Amino acid sequence: MNRMARRLALLLLLTPAVAALAACGSDDSIGSTTSCAGTAFHDPEHAPCDQLSQYALFDGTDDRGWPIPAEGTFVYTLNSSLFSDDTLKLRTIRLPEGAGPMRYQPDLPFDFPVGTIITKTFAVGEDLRDPDTPVHLLETRLLIRRADEWFAAPYEWDDENRDARHRAIGRNNISFSWIDAEGQERSTDRYTIPARTECGQCHRERRDLDVIGPKARHLNGPSRHDPSIENQLTHWAELGLLEGLPDDLADVPRNADAFDPHTGTLDERARAWLDINCAHCHNDTSEVASSGLDLRPNIDEARLLGVCKTPSAAGADGTGGLRYDIIPGDPDRSILVYRMSVDASNTIAIMPRLARSIVDEPALALIRDWVEWLGTEDAENRYPGITRASCIDR
Ligand code: HEC
Ligand code: HEC
Repeated sequence: MNRMARRLALLLLLTPAVAALAACGSDDSIGSTTSCAGTAFHDPEHAPCDQLSQYALFDGTDDRGWPIPAEGTFVYTLNSSLFSDDTLKLRTIRLPEGAGPMRYQPDLPFDFPVGTIITKTFAVGEDLRDPDTPVHLLETRLLIRRADEWFAAPYEWDDENRDARHRAIGRNNISFSWIDAEGQERSTDRYTIPARTECGQCHRERRDLDVIGPKARHLNGPSRHDPSIENQLTHWAELGLLEGLPDDLADVPRNADAFDPHTGTLDERARAWLDINCAHCHNDTSEVASSGLDLRPNIDEARLLGVCKTPSAAGADGTGGLRYDIIPGDPDRSILVYRMSVDASNTIAIMPRLARSIVDEPALALIRDWVEWLGTEDAENRYPGITRASCIDR
């Protein structure tokens, strides 16, 4: 669609009065009269609003400090999610009024109508053992569906959880502390809010800026936000928010919850974790594809998963002096495990480089167990030909 047609399509969504105003104004006046005016309408081609509140996605904050989704904004949760220094997340979607539902895809991200806004809010919870712990809001990241690709807009909250301000250049070395799920006091002084130019390091799985979480396999499960929703996908299909969902949920891909053994085997949980934490870079289409490591969940070839594979790039600093990404049964000598076990003080080895500054201990334990398991006979049934000996011989 060319720009003119796009603009016209957008105008059709406006009320007649506003449309008349916009039609005779320049791009700037469209912005000031409609786009950042604190109403649910937002022109996706418009420059990012200064304040988060101007999108009218939220209606103030609740007792704990979380933004309250406004009418038309709905919350989603993922079966397994990306670790970011133990911060808590609120993820929302707003489809533009009258633009139709999101469209199901089996493996790729869902198709969203132009004008969709997806948000992810990061907050520090004081005490993660307490489900009602008060939160301190850090940032809200927006991805706005434009006609050509998604557009990224990062917002940083004020200290009182009142509103968040657009800040394209990001911020480094943010300090905070919390009590983790095991009751340990934790802290970081290196939390990073990425700059807008850095979003694409993770959000370009297929080169164009894109969403990562809204894929069938991450969403196919109960909502952790609203316990009355047994399955998010069927719930949205019933509400007319999602079209194309297969009738039988058994036909829909589903990832395990990495930390809930009721939802999958050790292998399924480890692969679900690697999928959402690493596979947006480690696949066959991103800029990192040339390294030859592919951590997507449909990959069954042990070599592509890093088994007995020597890394393509990093020198000794990035490998801890180790030789193979994974040696089945030997987590201590597997580079993949090593790179998860370092914190931000090792800027060369840490994986991923953005998103975390501390070690994700539960995930490290999970992946260590998985690499240990890869050395068993059981694993040979799953990944034919995978043996520890095959590495050592090389
Ligand atoms: C280190 C990799 C990484 C970087 C850098 C990153 N993101 Fe993401 N982002 C993810 C992953 C992985 C998900 C999905 C998992 C989740 O939500 O926990 C995600 C989810 C999101 C979502 C929810 C929709 C979706 O795609 O799943 C938004 C919105 C978002 N990111 C915006 C941004 C913006 C804006 C920036 C830059 C300021 C950014 N992200 C930088 C990895 C990253
Ligand atoms: C933002 C993109 C990005 C994310 C996310 C990411 N990586 Fe990487 N990874 C890279 C890049 C770039 C390289 C190549 C340069 C290097 O080795 O540092 C790499 C290399 C590696 C290597 C060496 C691969 C080889 O065989 O050449 C391993 C192992 C690795 N990453 C593990 C992980 C793990 C585990 C995760 C998830 C916890 C992860 N990475 C997440 C960008 C990423």
